[in-house]
Amino acid sequence: MASVRDTADVDTTKPSQQPCSENPTRSKYTFDTEEIPRLSCKDPLAEKLMANERPVVLTDTNLVTSALHWTIPYLQENIGSCDFSVYSSTNNKFKYYDDKKIRSNKDFIPPTRRTEMKFPDFVNAVNAAAPGKDRLYLQQTLNDSVGQRIVFDFLNFNWNWINEQQRKYNWGPLTSNLLLVGMEGNITPAHYDEQQNYFAQIGGYKRCILFPPEQFECLYPYPVHHPHDRQSQVDFDNPDFEKFPKFRNVKAVSALLGPGDVLYIPMYWWHQIESVEGHGMTISVNFWYKGGATTKVEYPLKPQQKVAVMRNIEKMITEALNDHQEVAPFMQTMVLGRYLPTNPST
Ligand code: FUM
Ligand code: FE
Repeated sequence: MASVRDTADVDTTKPSQQPCSENPTRSKYTFDTEEIPRLSCKDPLAEKLMANERPVVLTDTNLVTSALHWTIPYLQENIGSCDFSVYSSTNNKFKYYDDKKIRSNKDFIPPTRRTEMKFPDFVNAVNAAAPGKDRLYLQQTLNDSVGQRIVFDFLNFNWNWINEQQRKYNWGPLTSNLLLVGMEGNITPAHYDEQQNYFAQIGGYKRCILFPPEQFECLYPYPVHHPHDRQSQVDFDNPDFEKFPKFRNVKAVSALLGPGDVLYIPMYWWHQIESVEGHGMTISVNFWYKGGATTKVEYPLKPQQKVAVMRNIEKMITEALNDHQEVAPFMQTMVLGRYLPTNPST
């Protein structure tokens, strides 16, 4: 198993230039964390990391320089009168769930509530928020219904640079740009996405905690049929080591992102994203791309390819049995006493 330390054959000890006095996360969780390298996008090492699907913070892409003047009042004034998806949570966690998977999981209680609202209503609701009241997180795919100034800023993103990356790494098309506007302290808990992501920070600061795909078994994702598919079942604030013993073995890499920084989050890398407290609301945009087609399969498969295979097999079994209650006993029958390392014939 490759270690996350493989990413650290570079000097990551350069002091951060960012004026953010964040409490170090190192003491906050049960696992060790190393800093993700912060590099110029022209640095050959940054290119090497991206080519090897390793995370890196790029400090000078100018990807969202045209949007660095975005503030909450500016967005309120200019983003237009379209509707935005706003999630509310009774705590600081905003764990994603797939609406489409709720129907077949009748007992599922969504941990957040989604409401469509105009941007000024979102701002009013944020201003009315108080300790003990719901927290809010706006998460909306950008489209051409936003106001002219926002469209202008969007068109002036550094598309030349990002199109060049897409070509160089042989990625598929850009699928969407998600605008995230969050209250300080909001947390998107650990999950992985099935797309490549350039995550651009525009306002405020975010602490991004990542784990490589080879730590799949330490992070205990929900079953594929579950609405929380791709999310970790482990509560990082209070891990249940009896239920999730391998969580003791996780090792993270992490980065503090400030305005203008772009974090490459490789496909299938786990990430937890936290809006840092004490620095106001956070504004980010992510750029999601489909992964590239594999032209030649090489063995052994990479950890992320194994995750993709596992997902497909799990989906096939779930579909074939047509009852997700039957999936676990079925898979146990396939493995127990047959493919265990204690059985010498395997
Ligand atoms: O909260 C966040 O910024 C999450 C982003 C992501 O998961 O891509
Ligand atoms: Fe994500």
